[in-house]
Amino acid sequence: MKELLKFVTCGSVDDGKSTLIGHLLYDAKLLYTDQKQALELESKIGSREGELDYSLLLDGLMAEREQGITIDVAYRYFSTDKRSFIVADAPGHEEYTRNMAVGASFARLAVILVDVTQGILLQTRRHATICALFGICNFVFVLNKMDLVNYSQDAFDKAQDEIRKLSSDLGLEQVICIPVSATEGDNVVYPSENMKWYTNQPLLEYLECVKTENGTEEEGFVMPVQRVCRPNHTFRGFQGTVISGKIAVGDSITVLPSGEISGVQALLCADKRVQQVKAGQAATIQLEKEIDVSRGCVLANKTELKRTNMFNANILWMDEQALVQGRTFLMKLGTKTVSAVVMAIQYKLDINTGKQLRVQKVCKNEIAVCDFVLSEKTVFSSFKAHRALGRFILIDRFNNMTSACGIINHHLRCSENLTWQKLDITRELRAEKMQQKPVTIWFTGLSGSGKSTLANELEKALNMDGKYSMLLDGDNVRMGLSKDLGFEEKDRIENIRRIAEVSKLMNDAGLIVITSFISPYHNDRQNARAVIGTENFIEVYVNTPLEVCEERDVKGLYQKARNGEIPNFTGISSPFEMPKNAEITIDTTNRSIEACIRQLLDELQKQINK
Ligand code: ADX
Repeated sequence: MKELLKFVTCGSVDDGKSTLIGHLLYDAKLLYTDQKQALELESKIGSREGELDYSLLLDGLMAEREQGITIDVAYRYFSTDKRSFIVADAPGHEEYTRNMAVGASFARLAVILVDVTQGILLQTRRHATICALFGICNFVFVLNKMDLVNYSQDAFDKAQDEIRKLSSDLGLEQVICIPVSATEGDNVVYPSENMKWYTNQPLLEYLECVKTENGTEEEGFVMPVQRVCRPNHTFRGFQGTVISGKIAVGDSITVLPSGEISGVQALLCADKRVQQVKAGQAATIQLEKEIDVSRGCVLANKTELKRTNMFNANILWMDEQALVQGRTFLMKLGTKTVSAVVMAIQYKLDINTGKQLRVQKVCKNEIAVCDFVLSEKTVFSSFKAHRALGRFILIDRFNNMTSACGIINHHLRCSENLTWQKLDITRELRAEKMQQKPVTIWFTGLSGSGKSTLANELEKALNMDGKYSMLLDGDNVRMGLSKDLGFEEKDRIENIRRIAEVSKLMNDAGLIVITSFISPYHNDRQNARAVIGTENFIEVYVNTPLEVCEERDVKGLYQKARNGEIPNFTGISSPFEMPKNAEITIDTTNRSIEACIRQLLDELQKQINK
């Protein structure tokens, strides 16, 4: 099997990226006859006055052709006698940073195009920074358009000096510079006749020979379990792709996170029995012992994989809505999906200057270094050691969109030594003693919408009915548990996180919990639902309109907010995201409290008996 090299090409609109790869495919005779003919035909009407325009081969996307820019990551496959290649062609514009990061996290090597007539630009630094941040160690700087500087060695030397400086600034590991003319084909596939002073390899030859793995990494056997295969009661195999090392029948395997050990009974590759499987192969593994293994577990031997729930990572934020510290997401890591909180935004990186900036928010296309805490101990690794277990994506719980991608730098020690203590008096026992189902009734709505009044009346009614309950009210909690918090987004996130955790504890104690908080953000309400458990969570949206709340203005706060005396006031200068999946909705406009409570009790009954 030929070795595979995955690389990414980065460059801006006019650097000649498509021309370079186009010329490479053409000269290396990697085109089909019809592609060649089409190219010759199209070039006749193109912009090079009948000369072959190699970029036409690559610019497959219509929009890209029309605008003359590359708009998405395009993957192309080609193969020479020595190696197979996959090239990710990433666009260079700042607004497409995410495409470049995606391309980079996939690749082992980056080909960065520099227009030698312009020298090193801010964007060159940006491209190199993104590639380095997303795990690339090998860099080829292609100094293009040498034909326009008369193939001058001086021009090349000058650019090369700048690149050396940039590489040392960014701590790039393996770096080489190749002088090229992508349109004329100098040093693309064949050594250039015009630059005899350059004695190193042309681009393709270099790509065919370069060593990208340092060999010491990824030694031990690791396979994240993708699927448990159980066609009948006699067979139970664990399937996945081996991401590093090898394993043979009879070897011993540790199942993570549980740490249980078993010998390998049998191995299958496709449907054939084999004695050994290795990195890159898809395998089915049968173990000697009956061990609990499910999707998301990792089978390993001789590895230092971490099994904890905190780590530090580089992320690229991709969501229109900015990232704020404390937010919860679903994280896909390897074959596992867990709930993850952005515990701290350490800093944002100014990718043009390399400066680390302290920030409250991370906006779309920005790169930041953050600390994460996961809801459970999970198997992961640094990206450097195991790519597949060191990268992740964050998914917004509410709209299921991918909000970020990231790579793990290192684990954080803090919670490594905690284990969940099993208690004998369980939640079920406590609930049974109180003869009730301990749910959380979560009121949400604007200030003055009637949440606290309804919550209070509801608690009275439940009490009359002999129920045990606890009411957590916004203003009251903010005088105690949350007295260190204000009303900025990050403070509200933390406030709601605390209330969700406290409600869960009180539910565990057997109590029915009623909460009354504005809780203006979807994401935080979703998170509260996840923490408390969706089967115990009843969201009540008090949807009294803003005009009505403002007219009531019981506490005089709307008036003050309108006068600019209270910043970040919900509904005025801070958003309220309307619930879309509340179990119960109540409008208090022109309705008596009694009527609202009757509706509420009625609907609650149905929810609890569901
Ligand atoms: S939440 O957004 O974090 O859920 P919470 O319900 O605890 O808010 O607190 C809201 C109460 O704080 C309001 O009922 C109001 O009395 C008071 N308050 C003071 N400042 C603000 C503000 N800027 N925005 C909203 N409520 C405020």
